[in-house]
Amino acid sequence: MTQTDTQTPLLFTPIRLRGITARNRIMASPMCQYLSDDGAPQEWQLVNFGRFAMGGCGIVFTEETAVEARGRKTYHCAGIYHDSHIPAYRRITDFLRAQGAVPAIQLGHCGRRASQHGPLKDRATLTEADAQDNMKPWQGISPSPLPPTPDGAIPREMTLDDIRDTLAAWREAARRAVDAGYDLCEIHGAHGYLIHQFLSPLSNLRRDAYGGSLEGRMRYALEVAETVRAAWPADRPLFFRVSAIEGAGGVWGIEDTLALTRELKARGVDAIDCSSGGVGGDGPMPGVPRVPGFQAGYSREVRHATGLPTVAVGMISDAHHAEKLLRDGDADVIALARGLMDDPNWPLHAARTLGYAGALGLVQEREAQRLRLLEQHRADYPQGSAVAIPYGPQERVPYSWETGIARRG
Ligand SMILES: Cc1cc2nc3c(=O)[nH]c(=O)nc-3n(C[C@H](O)[C@H](O)[C@H](O)COP(=O)(O)O)c2cc1C
Repeated sequence: MTQTDTQTPLLFTPIRLRGITARNRIMASPMCQYLSDDGAPQEWQLVNFGRFAMGGCGIVFTEETAVEARGRKTYHCAGIYHDSHIPAYRRITDFLRAQGAVPAIQLGHCGRRASQHGPLKDRATLTEADAQDNMKPWQGISPSPLPPTPDGAIPREMTLDDIRDTLAAWREAARRAVDAGYDLCEIHGAHGYLIHQFLSPLSNLRRDAYGGSLEGRMRYALEVAETVRAAWPADRPLFFRVSAIEGAGGVWGIEDTLALTRELKARGVDAIDCSSGGVGGDGPMPGVPRVPGFQAGYSREVRHATGLPTVAVGMISDAHHAEKLLRDGDADVIALARGLMDDPNWPLHAARTLGYAGALGLVQEREAQRLRLLEQHRADYPQGSAVAIPYGPQERVPYSWETGIARRG
């Protein structure tokens, strides 16, 4: 990719969505921490998400946040199902905003993937034995009474009242997210959770208006979108995360996703976050190989078919790659999850890699000032130049660039 030095890289060009402007197009992707206390985030979340804002991300998502208590995967998942949760999130959003990032929340409901241990225990289903550790199993809800895995717990088939109740929970969660200071909201419609369970014919065997045809299976997703859109301020953007295709053996494909995203656009969704996987079966769909940009093609398809802005995510960690995806019109925003865990200052480093003159503007001025000084030192004493380190008024010892030390004698 060619680019002149004077041109601002697209990655560092602000993006405006409704009334909100992100300083750049780098997004910290939502990441569950499994460290909440009855839904409420702790110190860990403040520091963990805070470091992504300090590193220069334009948009910082916190984690999938359950709209009701039974919609958590584990007892330690985040939730926003009580008004008492609001101050704990407000503390995080205030900090993210103070660092220049747009604070973003992903609202979710796990449906049948409830009542589990976290990933460190392989997401094993809770049993009665776990009740001794204050983790009594509970029954998940889902469009059909099908377990998430062959040996998983069978969820309760949702009644129409359940559907209405969960829609009310989505609405209330969105309202609390406003009060908690979030500027951007995403509906988690991917990864085999409740919305995806309605979408996929593998997990939805209903014969009523919420099942059967594609139109029927999409109904719940679209009602959630309408509900959240109505509760979420008109001047703030709403994203929707899709599994553009399902996992190995799944049947939901890219054409289904295009149909869904066109309908989401009509309901005021502002951007589609393009992920994949979560429901699998015995069908012919192979798993998606994990290579850099493995889901970026889905982002391109959705962007071109709907005209909606999209987010590309999936093993994108090279700044030139991120920039090229934007330049080629494959996405409008680039999201990183593990890349930011690996390097929370990734935006700053990417800015330098792309020759962005405003790189140091991405971090707080008190840090930038010191980093400028560091750059000045490097300019003052170029690699290989003659340097001597004083050991006293009369004694100077040559510095060796090879060993990185000035040794006497
Ligand atoms: C620790 C961790 C937690 C995650 N939690 C969520 C989540 O809460 N919601 C979600 O949609 N995706 C979640 N993901 C998926 C990421 O948002 C992202 O889509 C995925 O990791 C691919 O991006 P990457 O290759 O940059 O890590 C999580 C990923 C990780 C590593």
